[in-house]
Amino acid sequence: MIIPRPSELTPHPGRFVIGSALRLEPGPGAEPAADLLAGYLGPGRARTHAGPVIRLGLDPSHQLELGAEGYRLDIRPRRVELTAPAEAGLLNGVQTLRQLLPPAALAADTAPADAWWWPCISIRDRPRLAWRGLLLDVARHFMPLDYLFETVDRLALHKLNVLHLHLTDDQGWRIEVDGLPRLTDIGAWRTESQIGPPGDFHLDGTAHGGYYSQRELRALVAHAAARGVTIVPEIEMPGHTRAALAAYPNLGNHPDRTLPVWTRWGISEDILSVDDHTLDFCRQVLAQTMSVFPARYVHIGGDECPTTAWHTSPEARRRAARLGFRGVDELHGWFLRQMHDFLAAHDRRAACWDETGHSAGRLPEAMALTAWRDPDHGARAVAHGHQVIMAPHTSTYLDYPQSTQPEEPQGQPGEIVTLEDVHAFDPLGGGALPVGDPAGMAPGVLGVQAQLWTEYAPTPAHTDYLAYPRLCALAETAWSTGPRELEEFLGRLDHHRHRLRALGVPVGRLPAAAR
Ligand code: ACM
Repeated sequence: MIIPRPSELTPHPGRFVIGSALRLEPGPGAEPAADLLAGYLGPGRARTHAGPVIRLGLDPSHQLELGAEGYRLDIRPRRVELTAPAEAGLLNGVQTLRQLLPPAALAADTAPADAWWWPCISIRDRPRLAWRGLLLDVARHFMPLDYLFETVDRLALHKLNVLHLHLTDDQGWRIEVDGLPRLTDIGAWRTESQIGPPGDFHLDGTAHGGYYSQRELRALVAHAAARGVTIVPEIEMPGHTRAALAAYPNLGNHPDRTLPVWTRWGISEDILSVDDHTLDFCRQVLAQTMSVFPARYVHIGGDECPTTAWHTSPEARRRAARLGFRGVDELHGWFLRQMHDFLAAHDRRAACWDETGHSAGRLPEAMALTAWRDPDHGARAVAHGHQVIMAPHTSTYLDYPQSTQPEEPQGQPGEIVTLEDVHAFDPLGGGALPVGDPAGMAPGVLGVQAQLWTEYAPTPAHTDYLAYPRLCALAETAWSTGPRELEEFLGRLDHHRHRLRALGVPVGRLPAAAR
């Protein structure tokens, strides 16, 4: 009943009863995983020196068999052994132990009970893909910090290991940047928001906003690291920047024009300029972003960037001419390359959106691309030498409605993405595409990611409604090897729903009227 399904599982007779006293024995380096497990088993449990034992140990000799994130778990009536080549594997094994508890044990308010037990079982498990992500858009709607903490823990439960945090966009700037106070004083707040579908919307008249201090984000990073989750920050450029332009109009192509933080959704023609001071601004923001987020990857957006404003800007045209470009459109790739070079000089890798498949070939191969339109675009990027995160909108955009039922709330218009659609998607194109290894540079599919854009999801309850259970299917796609049969998955999901409910996730239930 584990989601995602482990690689190999052998049941044995008997059970391990989790008594009120536990002998928890972490080997060298396994203490953080033991602490995480102890937290899940409840603070009331005493640690003793006798009785049934839970051993957690690092054993690098299993690296070949289990990879960087795999683990072995053996549960017998009086002993549990969790072994992994690296900490990430132990943390994944802890989540398996968590899922094997009675579902009620996952509730925050459940007192540890002597009646808890694990079934005797042997598991050998390792992920199919290295990047198993969820994008959460906190720019369109600010989400409270405690919801980010909760989200990280739920990702870990599903062995998802990346939270791609979309921190900036036209409608809001959410990260504090020292020396640039207006980004959050001005850019983090908007006077109202569009509600209703494009073409038939109105503005709600309600101010909205918020931002995270660097201190808060560092605490989130630590909470995530303790669960094996990496936070990949995204700073959008050169488009999707109306919030930054509202704060500092001189970053734009019309420095004399003050724009408000955008109150509508869509694609804005107001983008960053290509002036030196604007590029320096971007580097300053990225430098602080790197200081908060230790992730190997930093996402720099790059999507949906009309170049209209550059076509009419004498400065942009001069810059394009000086660079020997045929036109200002080439400044888009050039802009992203400048930021790639800056990040690379700091030993980080840039990632950006790829929406046509044509970015590949124009961007440095070392840039990872998030392929969001067609899986074919991702395949083309791999062919051009990139590592790719597959995020095709028709299978991984959870902001689309999940059904055509009349009670389904307004979602992103355009598609319906069902649980079955998410489950059926194969990021490796049926085996046609190579798997990418983040430790190396060889082209391939690094992984797969679900997207929770929040134009139409103003509250945590609403994003939870969109995420579950479709995110469970994405976790299965990202982690599990072997044949994927929908019926078999749905059977496990039925049990898994009890775990989600215990965690307070309103699975399949509509949030109370969104507004
Ligand atoms: C995107 O949906 N514009 C990445």
